[in-house]
This record gives sequence, structure tokens and C-alpha cells, in this order.
Amino acid sequence: MDIKNHKKKIVEQFSKQASGYTAITSHSDALDKLISLSSASKSDSVLDIACGSGIVSCEFAKYTKHVTGIDMTQGMLDEARKLQTKLNLANVTWQIGDVESLPYKDNSFSIVISRFGFHHFLNPFKVLSEMKRVCKPEGKVLVVDVSLPDTKIKKYNEMEKNRDYSHVTALSLTEFSNLFEKVGFKCLNTDFYSMQIGLKEQLKASFPKDANALKSMIIADLGVNDLGINVSKLNDEYFLHYPVHIFSAKN
Ligand SMILES: C[S@@+](CC[C@H](N)C(=O)[O-])C[C@H]1O[C@@H](n2cnc3c(N)ncnc32)[C@H](O)[C@@H]1O
Repeated sequence: MDIKNHKKKIVEQFSKQASGYTAITSHSDALDKLISLSSASKSDSVLDIACGSGIVSCEFAKYTKHVTGIDMTQGMLDEARKLQTKLNLANVTWQIGDVESLPYKDNSFSIVISRFGFHHFLNPFKVLSEMKRVCKPEGKVLVVDVSLPDTKIKKYNEMEKNRDYSHVTALSLTEFSNLFEKVGFKCLNTDFYSMQIGLKEQLKASFPKDANALKSMIIADLGVNDLGINVSKLNDEYFLHYPVHIFSAKN
């Protein structure tokens, strides 16, 4: 894939998603789990990779000394600033940039985290290597993203590429595990939560190529689960349950 074109797609897509992103309630699920898995404390300086509208950055800022959030979409960083102001947090810095090449020295942060970014990266190896490089020895690296068994990836990607044309690929559990090993992490801890979102809410916040096809694909997966998101139905509403995995490793 053409790198320049892909990055253009990311900025286009997230400039559109920016204004509604923070309001999606499930985007604030399980933040306490991330804080606890990272053992965040007031002595930590944190880097949030592809921080978007700053939901994770601002949560970490409540428990740590300082957080830097980096993202390539200005519209998302504008939303992040709004959230920071709303929460009255003084210890956050926002930076525009491409996370494939981080503008920080080696060993700069004690916690380096990325949530919901890896499925957008053309080169996840490069990004995780950069996360490792800027993390202090004994610091923690956390990657949070939807991850599925290998058999579900193809169909899931089909759905997500329709919903969000900047989606590259979800990584399977095996792929994430291999990636951490290849980058040089010795021991990987894996945790999980299910992120539920109503189909109507999801469609309202998305910019699909073909909304009808997307809706039909999801509805047809009820009781089948080829997509790996355990579609359920309550009254007249359909719900998606994204399997979110948290991969954490000591540097
Ligand atoms: C789904 S959002 C996730 C935002 C945030 N991390 C969260 O968990 O709410 C993905 C973000 O990744 C950013 N992004 C994707 N590729 C990037 C790259 N190569 N460099 C910097 N940001 C990138 C997009 O701009 C977008 O804000």
C-alpha cells in the first residue's frame, strides 16, 4: 500500500470522526483496568501513541506525573485539548506526529501505551520497536486493540474496511504475540475485555463506504459469529461486542 496515501486516509477519516469520538461511551470502558495493569503512579511519565481525542492520556494524567499524547490528526488533538480543559489537567502535552518515527530520545518514558491504533499501522513492527526504544529499562509497554482468532480476521477486516477506510488489518492473538517476541520483549501478559456498542450508535459515529451493506453484514452475523464480534439483539437493537485485548510487557 502507498504510505503517503494511507496517511492521508488516516487524517481524512479521523478528521471526520473527531467531533463524535469522545462521546461514544464504550470508548471510556475499562480505563481502570489499563491504569491497574500499568501500575501507574505519581512518579511515572507516560507516552500515549496515536492518542486520538486523549481519552487514555487524560485518564493516565490523573494518576501519573506527566503524559505526552502524540497523533497525526490535528482534529483529534483539538478534541484532546478540550477534554484536558474539561478535566482541568495541567500535566499533559500534545504533539502532532507520525508514530512510526517517534521524536523522543531513547529511555524517555516509564509507561508507553497505545490503544486502538495498531490496526491502522502499515508497519506495526516499526511502531512497537519505537515504543520499546523510548521506554525506560524496567518500564511498561502496553498495546490495547481488538484482536481475534486467526480464523475470524478476514471477515472482520472486510467489515471494518467498509466502516472505516483507514483500517489496515486487525492482528490475531498469534500475530500480536509473535510481534512482541520479534521486537525483543521477553514475557508478554495478555488481558481482555469486551467492548459493547449498539449498531445504531456505531453507524452514527462512522463514515462507511456502504452503510446498508455494513448493516446487513452485521445483522446476518447474529448467532453465526463469523465476524468475531458476537452480535446480539435486545428488543429491536443489535449490539456488537468487540474483543479487546491488552498486551503488556516489561522493557
Ligand atoms: C481509533 S483512534 C484511537 C485513539 C485513541 N488512542 C483511543 O484509544 O481513543 C486511532 C488514532 O490513530 C491515529 N493514527 C493512526 N496512524 C497513525 C500514525 N502513523 N501516527 C500517528 N497517529 C496515527 C489516528 O489519527 C487516530 O487518532
